[in-house]
Amino acid sequence: MSTIDIYVPRDSSALSLGAEQVANAIGAEAKKRNIDVRLIRNGSRGMYWLEPFVEVVTPGGRVGYGPVTVKDVPGLFDAGFHTGGQHALAHGVTDEIPFLKSQQRLTFERVGVIDPVSVSDYVAHGGYQGLRAALAMKQADIVQAVLDSGLRGRGGAAFPTGIKWKTVLDQNTPQKYVTCNADEGDSGTFADRMLMEGDPLTLIEGMTIAGLAVGANQGYIYLRCEYPHAHQVLKEAIAAAYQARYLGADVMGSGRKFDLEVRLGAGAYVCGEETSMLESLEGKRGEVRVRPPLPAIKGLFGQPTIVNNVITHASVPIILAKGAAFYRDYGVGKSRGTLPFQLAGNLKHGGLVERAFGLTLKELLYDYGGGSATGRPIRTVQVGGPLGAYIPASQFDVAAGYEELSAIGALLGHGGIVAFDDTVDMAKMARYAMEFCAIESCGKCTPCRIGSTRGVEVIDRILAGVDTEHNLKLLEDLCETMLQGSLCGLGGMTPFPVTSALKYFGEDFRGRARH
Ligand SMILES: Cc1cc2nc3c(=O)[nH]c(=O)nc-3n(C[C@H](O)[C@H](O)[C@H](O)COP(=O)(O)O)c2cc1C
Ligand code: SF4
Repeated sequence: MSTIDIYVPRDSSALSLGAEQVANAIGAEAKKRNIDVRLIRNGSRGMYWLEPFVEVVTPGGRVGYGPVTVKDVPGLFDAGFHTGGQHALAHGVTDEIPFLKSQQRLTFERVGVIDPVSVSDYVAHGGYQGLRAALAMKQADIVQAVLDSGLRGRGGAAFPTGIKWKTVLDQNTPQKYVTCNADEGDSGTFADRMLMEGDPLTLIEGMTIAGLAVGANQGYIYLRCEYPHAHQVLKEAIAAAYQARYLGADVMGSGRKFDLEVRLGAGAYVCGEETSMLESLEGKRGEVRVRPPLPAIKGLFGQPTIVNNVITHASVPIILAKGAAFYRDYGVGKSRGTLPFQLAGNLKHGGLVERAFGLTLKELLYDYGGGSATGRPIRTVQVGGPLGAYIPASQFDVAAGYEELSAIGALLGHGGIVAFDDTVDMAKMARYAMEFCAIESCGKCTPCRIGSTRGVEVIDRILAGVDTEHNLKLLEDLCETMLQGSLCGLGGMTPFPVTSALKYFGEDFRGRARH
């Protein structure tokens, strides 16, 4: 009997649900039954309600089972799952599962499919075609391709990536850097982590292309220390890329050099802000820098530096491999390409949905998310992390694009969507936003450092029913001051969740019992 390939994820979420124990149990049970099994530790497919999601390779394709627990394993073997047999946990051929089948996976094409640390598996699935194409191009042409693709930064600010790259290319200095912002501090977001754990070579390839494009031979991935599994996968993948000469002194035999290292953050939300990240990378306290100068002109160690998010970097290989027009053809308005939307909070089917920009929030929440996990109506969603606005159910028809969301006073940010049902207390959510800012403020500017603390106090008075109208006015004034006067987005955007909660859910702030 030939060897049977069984995939069990090494993704953090799957591991947190027992994937390691399930992998061990499958190995032990196969041995007991004299079945020749090869266990491959892949990333997650992004259907988190089914994790640990185990897949078996059959002649008809990969067949999925989940969520699998250790005690299910003997029964799965009894049912012949190792040959794709029927079982209560079976979901059929994975690629045919509607949640996956209707997605447009460009950046996440290989995530959950391949062995994340195998260069040969990566290449067999189309990897390194972008770098190969880039090596045959002039630097300015690589930058032009990124510009033409319409790619905008996926970290939150949506700045055109090609313009940033062109600025770095235009600097006439011998030392430049490529950095990757893998701090991923936004609530409800996990796309960076999922990509790094499931297909880190796409990020490595993207950063190598960035280095070639702008003339930088050193890259750093700034990874949050809360991602130990991603760190491990990255370390293994970088070592494998060096071994296969896709990194190092002679990238793909081109004579061009690109070195890559991972640096760990110490766990501050503000270190995801790009200048604060650079300070932290330099070994200093993560405090925001005044701009200008822009990092593209004077960044890491004072040198021209590309700062891009994980997903931005990881979107570049397919643009180079398939051409700018291929990528630009996806999307809506000025939001070109695809976005990995992350469904979180009170949803039946939490997970990752990569689709072209332009589908509605309603489609994401109900067609993919399956509605709330509690079965109650979804009252609101917060999109774009802890600094994103709350969007009421009456606006769920909005198309998910940068300008489209901004037109309703919201933001798309890194694509995280956190759902709340009708039991949520929006005054408490507003307090949470202010408290988050107070805790995470770097302290450099007064509106944020002092304003957020005063904001918590004002909301506490509102919660206690004290001088409600007066305190609501005070809160609005304070939000205006923070919006206008803060040095960076942490203080400057904290008013978004607060004022949107006030605007759409004013009843939660008024009429509270005085105590
Ligand atoms: C408080 C704050 C936190 C941020 N956190 C992150 C983060 O965790 N990851 C990220 O990529 N960008 C984050 N950003 C955005 C970065 O400052 C920057 O715009 C981004 O890294 C640029 O890369 P991009 O153009 O590829 O998006 C944050 C911004 C602010 C103001
Ligand atoms: S807004 Fe807050 S986090 Fe940003 S620079 Fe000012 S004090 Fe620091």
